Amino acid sequence: MKWQASAPANIALIKYMGKSSAANNLPANISLSYTLEHLRSFVELELNNNLTQDQWEPLQDSRAAFIPTLNANAQQRYINHLVFIKKQFNFTGHFIIRSANNFPAGCGIASSAASFAALTLCAVNALVELTQREPLRILAIANLSRQGSGSSCRSLLGPWVFWQGQTVEAIELPYKHLHHFVVVITEQHKNITSSEAHQRVLTSPLYAGRIERAEQRYQQLIAAFNQQNWSKAYEIVWQEFSDMHALFETAAQPFKYIQTETQEVLDYLRVYWENNGDGPLVTLDAGPNVHVLFRDDQIAMFNAMKKEFATNYMIL
Ligand code: PMV
Repeated sequence: MKWQASAPANIALIKYMGKSSAANNLPANISLSYTLEHLRSFVELELNNNLTQDQWEPLQDSRAAFIPTLNANAQQRYINHLVFIKKQFNFTGHFIIRSANNFPAGCGIASSAASFAALTLCAVNALVELTQREPLRILAIANLSRQGSGSSCRSLLGPWVFWQGQTVEAIELPYKHLHHFVVVITEQHKNITSSEAHQRVLTSPLYAGRIERAEQRYQQLIAAFNQQNWSKAYEIVWQEFSDMHALFETAAQPFKYIQTETQEVLDYLRVYWENNGDGPLVTLDAGPNVHVLFRDDQIAMFNAMKKEFATNYMIL
């Protein structure tokens, strides 16, 4: 028996960084994301009665050309998440997990959000059927997903998702649909995982006040969106990713994702805004790649900028 599911990545404009409970994977601060429907993970689960434990292998799927090169730790973390979900259903059988993405993994394009959300969805579908339980509500599925990778709980709803503690909610904003691309500076795996980053930021002197800063920016950003004040939203979103990257760079064991090319792209975007009085929202995840988001009516700007960046970089 086989089950399949797919889930999108999401990009946080107000960033989840630091945990209030490592055991339950609860966030220290509020976050807000936009769901990236075009960047997806695909998962297949196959029940196999000959297995004595769950195992992972790459998924061959024409929709998902990027096979995640999961090292032993990452594979185990993924398998452990399935084991955790099976426990919730008192299910003792074993599965082969197959997964792949339509974008490169492990380089700060929120692959863990997409891949854990897809695995959770697929496992819940399979286990509801196998144990003949009532289907789970989306909030319950999001909270299961959160245990595997915090930010994945925001990938199960959309397009705008708010997360605080155990509450994950889709919210209504005037910008119903945005156009998004990522300027891929490097596809290389980052050396500091986001799990490690969540711990290290707590040692930065700038961490004091971080929870309040995120909360305040969240309120300001919602107000800016509701007033359709796009340039204000751009400023807040820029301050927010800069705040997160400053935490990284000032931790007791500092680390840095921003590369020379990242800075060049950021400088280009800042000058673009200065010259045009308009432009995209700009943000970085925990990685060197630059995410840009455009309003629906900026489609011409989106296409022109995408073409321009594509001469030097991979664009997703
Ligand atoms: O879900 P995790 O534990 O991989 O954390 C990811 C956190 C960031 O992507 C850096 C920010 C966010 O809110 O998505």
